[in-house]
Amino acid sequence: MVYDNIVLIGFMGSGKTAVGKILARYLHKNFVDVDSVIEKEQGASISEIFADKGEEHFRALEQKCINELAQNKGQVIATGGGLPIYNSLPEKSLIVYIDADFDVILNRLPAKEHAKRPLLQNESRARTLFEQRTDTYKELATLRVDANQSIQTFIHVIVDFILDKRVL
Ligand code: S3P
Repeated sequence: MVYDNIVLIGFMGSGKTAVGKILARYLHKNFVDVDSVIEKEQGASISEIFADKGEEHFRALEQKCINELAQNKGQVIATGGGLPIYNSLPEKSLIVYIDADFDVILNRLPAKEHAKRPLLQNESRARTLFEQRTDTYKELATLRVDANQSIQTFIHVIVDFILDKRVL
């Protein structure tokens, strides 16, 4: 086994959680979502954590959470869009970049999902964040998938990569 876990990275709303759930089902792995684990542990939503404790505190929670998750193997882990920007990803993980264009994300995201994300509230600031982060996502990725299409059109790219290379 080359990698302990699969870690999905990419901008907010690119579909990491949806992809992760399907991928985990295909590969018979556990799915974990860092934001959901943090919300459960803190008993508060991401918006509440940002509002009450600030972004820096949230980033520290992210690092602690991913470090703890990395103690286990055989998981598909969806990260928040800022995690690989501010924090370090676990070693021995297959990093998959879910790469969707900013406009595709905005058009695809339902209002309810949009509202949950404090850093998406100002569109021009979110666009700047997107532009600032793209290179880092690319540099970190072992595998990048074009996520501008529906999940069904690209999920096999990830599954085939993993099964062909027998990496997990
Ligand atoms: C963030 C992305 C969010 C969440 C938080 C901050 C970011 O996760 O962690 O709102 O900095 O990009 P998603 O990528 O799942 O939306």
